Amino acid sequence: MTKPPDDTQFVPDEPRSTEVVADLPSFGRYRTQARIGSGAAGTVYRARDEVLGRDVAIKVLHTQTDPETRERFVREARAIASLPHEHVLSIYDVGTQHDASYLVVELARESLRDRLGAGPLSIDIARQIGIQISRALGTAHAAGIVHRDVKPANILAVFDGRWKLADFGIARLPDSTLTTIGQFLGSPSYAAPESLRAGVFVAASDVYALGSTLYEVIAGSPPFGHGDGAWKLKLSREPAPLPGVSRALSDLITAVLATDPARRPSAEQLAQVLATAH
Ligand SMILES: Nc1ncnc2c1ncn2[C@@H]1O[C@H](COP(=O)(O)OP(=O)(O)OP(=O)(O)O)[C@@H](O)[C@H]1O
Ligand SMILES: [Mg+2]
Repeated sequence: MTKPPDDTQFVPDEPRSTEVVADLPSFGRYRTQARIGSGAAGTVYRARDEVLGRDVAIKVLHTQTDPETRERFVREARAIASLPHEHVLSIYDVGTQHDASYLVVELARESLRDRLGAGPLSIDIARQIGIQISRALGTAHAAGIVHRDVKPANILAVFDGRWKLADFGIARLPDSTLTTIGQFLGSPSYAAPESLRAGVFVAASDVYALGSTLYEVIAGSPPFGHGDGAWKLKLSREPAPLPGVSRALSDLITAVLATDPARRPSAEQLAQVLATAH
């Protein structure tokens, strides 16, 4: 297990505060301890694996979810399980109890979304995040898996300081036809123009979403901001160059955020150039 070489500003500490709720349900051997947060698909809890004696995160699907959502959930489990990588969040288990599907994964300290709550991060940390997550994407893309929802909430800091990519929940496996083309399932502030316009998600769309995320890490907001207006702007023009960084880094982010997916670097190329573009 290697630590990131120069993420010097990372200071390990306790997990961020979680909401302790009485009478949380147990899921098999996993004793739920506190609620961490909630997203579109489910609620995430901190839990104790009573058999192995370690803390884990358990994501429980919201009740009343339709069969397609449940199937996507199991696909998330399979997608992650097929990708052992030091920057992909590890999956431990998947199951169903009382009609509730759950996924047991590695417990993280906080998300990049949480970290950005205190404001933009240094360029060096942005580079580290970019290198680590683009390597994870490179491995996924080589396996034919597109993540489809790269954004700060799905990039997690684990306890040794590494960043990991989580939530392949709407990833599309090569042999899957589950997700209808044209149905938009991502996060508009980070999604690529072709995804917003036509529901097209290719490897280059993940690269764009990572670029939007890194833009926010450095500049404080994604290239076209948040909200409805951002959609229209993104479809009609390319973003302003990233301010306050070197020409090399600004040019790289501009290439990553090209409207035409064919003009973007691959995830692998992005990792390589980020390692040298200061
Ligand atoms: N393995 C984990 N360890 C610690 N916290 C986690 C873990 N997975 C998710 N979280 C946190 O739990 C919260 C909810 O995550 P969840 O994935 O359900 O929603 P989201 O990523 O915000 O949105 P979406 O539903 O679009 O994926 C987020 O604040 C996230 O940072
Ligand atoms: Mg998530």
